[in-house]
Amino acid sequence: MASLDKILSGRISRLQHENLLRNLHDTERLSDAKVIRNGRKLISFSCNDYLGLSQNKKLMIAANNANSRYGVGSGASRLITGNNPLYAKLESKLAETCRTQAALVFGSGYLANIGVITALAGIGDLIIADKLSHSCIIEGALLSKAEFRRFTQNNLKSLKELLIKHRKDHNNCLVITESVFSMDGDSADIEKMLRLCKKYNAWLLVDYAHDINHLTGKNPISSPDLIKMGTLSKAVGIYGGYIAGSRTLMEYLRSSAKSFIFTTALPPSVLGSSIAALDIIRKQPIRAKKALDNAAYFRESLSSKLDELDIGHSDSQIVPIIIGGIEDTIRISEYLYENGYLVSAIRPPTVPVNTSRLRFSFSSQHDKKDIDKLIKLLIRYFRSQITF
Ligand SMILES: Cc1ncc(COP(=O)(O)O)c(C=O)c1O
Repeated sequence: MASLDKILSGRISRLQHENLLRNLHDTERLSDAKVIRNGRKLISFSCNDYLGLSQNKKLMIAANNANSRYGVGSGASRLITGNNPLYAKLESKLAETCRTQAALVFGSGYLANIGVITALAGIGDLIIADKLSHSCIIEGALLSKAEFRRFTQNNLKSLKELLIKHRKDHNNCLVITESVFSMDGDSADIEKMLRLCKKYNAWLLVDYAHDINHLTGKNPISSPDLIKMGTLSKAVGIYGGYIAGSRTLMEYLRSSAKSFIFTTALPPSVLGSSIAALDIIRKQPIRAKKALDNAAYFRESLSSKLDELDIGHSDSQIVPIIIGGIEDTIRISEYLYENGYLVSAIRPPTVPVNTSRLRFSFSSQHDKKDIDKLIKLLIRYFRSQITF
């Protein structure tokens, strides 16, 4: 065997042994929170399509119209010939949604975070990020070569301690948090964090990828030193990412964010359908409300019947049940699968060791009877386990 394959086979065996080897499954998504996997129809609590837009007929028409008008590909990076006129329209809508002067669309949320972080911070600077930040924040911080420190998840006291201790030794400081945490569903207090950042002369980058309220245009928080990041790939239902903030910031990023400069522009269909999706989200706030109400109903019903379960501090459409061990978590996920529900088992390195969990993501497309049946299944499972 070639040396590369030999080494990789060893690594794969280790991952398999630790239950950390990932597999892909063909999954066809349907319009009503259902999916078909391995020929089985399942109710999915695993999609990030929180507002049910990815299968929306109006958005498909908008995508087709953009395809017919501009073609299927963009042909080059935005700075060469890929800057389709739909970009300006989309960015102006995003700036309006985010209540900022301007916005800049990137190829994905991952690329947006990597790009903005590495453009803003470098050698001699300090980055302080929440400990449970998404991989693209961590990777961006490491890539930037700034000094990188992490504060305890959603804990302002821990952030303040790091600012007191380290801020003075660096030129610029960038603090980073998620607004709604992707694996826990709890929310950061952005206003308080912004005040703290101002006090210590730090910039604040907030990742709104999972914050569905933010998209309804009601996010009141704005400040010249607040940088907003978001994605078009989750609640917007399509693909892409963006940064929103001052005009000066966008002008700078256009010439400095490498993941903006050196990659091909998004296909026109993505831009056309994203514009239409933002309009629907603004006009139909009931979608976000329904997703949030569904999650609240699940949390309340479950904790009134199984108060020993650890469901963290979720206040959003994402609700975890923290199990701990990888094998136990996979077993429950498989039990739900056998009973017609798709709920992902989330394990390290996505979450810290010993906090493997089931992650339930609620959407406007779920209905009460599916949630009630899910709750019954969970109660049956946990009541039959002496260890819980
Ligand atoms: C908090 C957070 N930020 C950024 C991203 C990346 O966004 P995208 O999927 O658009 O690349 C994700 C995706 O999982 C995420 O959860």
